[in-house]
Amino acid sequence: MSSIQELFNKGKSLLRNCPQPSLETKLLIIKSASISEEEFYAFPETELSRGQEKLFYRLISRRLEGFPLAYLTGVKEFWSIPFRVFPGVLIPRPETELLVEKVIELISHEEKLIADIGTGAGNIAVSIAKEFPMARIIATDISQKALRAAQLNISLQKISRITFIRGSLFFPLKKPDLEGKFDFIVSNPPYVSEIEWEKLQKEIKNHEPKKALVAGKTGLEVIHNLIRGAIKYLKPEGYLCFEIGVKQREKVLSFFGPEWSKVECFDDLRGIPRVIIARKHLINEEKGSRLNI
Ligand SMILES: C[S@@+](CC[C@H](N)C(=O)[O-])C[C@H]1O[C@@H](n2cnc3c(N)ncnc32)[C@H](O)[C@@H]1O
Repeated sequence: MSSIQELFNKGKSLLRNCPQPSLETKLLIIKSASISEEEFYAFPETELSRGQEKLFYRLISRRLEGFPLAYLTGVKEFWSIPFRVFPGVLIPRPETELLVEKVIELISHEEKLIADIGTGAGNIAVSIAKEFPMARIIATDISQKALRAAQLNISLQKISRITFIRGSLFFPLKKPDLEGKFDFIVSNPPYVSEIEWEKLQKEIKNHEPKKALVAGKTGLEVIHNLIRGAIKYLKPEGYLCFEIGVKQREKVLSFFGPEWSKVECFDDLRGIPRVIIARKHLINEEKGSRLNI
C-alpha cells in the first residue's frame, strides 16, 4: 500500500504530459481516497487502502487515454462553485465566467425574471442565483442529461428559485404570460461549426457532447435564432446576453435589427471578443408605441 505522498510523486510523473500534472494528480487522489483537500495536505503519510489505490491507477490510465479530468473527478469549479458534471453534459469553461460577470454587473438587487437558454450543468443559472437570491430563473436545455446535472447542482447549492424546462430555444417559454416578461435572457449557446468540430482536440471531440458545441454548418445557426426569438420574450429595455466564438463578432453584430437600442461586445482575458450584451428598445420607433405593454 502507498501513502498519499508516494502516489502523488508517481501520479505526477505518469501525467507529466498532461496540462497540469500536479493539480490533476492531487484531484485524482482526493477522488480515489474520498478525502478533502485539507486532508490531502495535512496527512501526506496516510496510506490508501488497496481498493483506493487501484481506483487511483484506473483513473490515471483513463486520464492518459485522454478522458477529461472533470468527468473523472465528477466536478468542475465555475464561479468558485463546485459543479457536478458527467459524460453527456458539457464541462463548464472558465471563459463563460465573463458572461456571468457582465450579467451580474447589470442586475440591480430587485427581483428579476431571467431565462438561461441551454443551461447545461446549470452553471450560469446557479452562479447568478447565488449572487441574486431574489431572481427567478427559468433554465432550459434540449438535453435530458444536462437538465439532470443542472437539477443536481441546484439541489446541492440549495437554490429554490430556478425552474427547469426541456426543449429547444424558446419553445419551453411559449406561454402567453411569459411573452415580454423577461428582464434578461442569457445563454452560452452552441457556436462551433461542423468544420471546426472536426479540428477540435480529441479530448473534446471524443468525450464531450457534440450537440452542446456544434450549431450547424456555419456555427451561427443557434445564435441567429436566439437573437430573432429573444425580442418576443424580453421586456422593453430587457437584455439579451450571450457568449460567442472566436471571429464571430462582426457576423453576429450584423444579425441585430432596429428592435435593439444598444449592442455591445466584450473581450475575454485573452482579448477575444466573447460576450454580446444587447438591449431591447423601450419604444417601437416604427409604430411610435411601447412594445409588449
Ligand atoms: C455550450 S453548452 C453551454 C452549457 C452551459 N450553459 C455552460 O455555459 O457551460 C450549450 C448547451 O445548450 C444546449 N443546447 C443545444 N442546442 C440547444 C437548443 N436548440 N435549445 C436549447 N438548448 C440547446 C446543449 O445541450 C448544451 O447543454
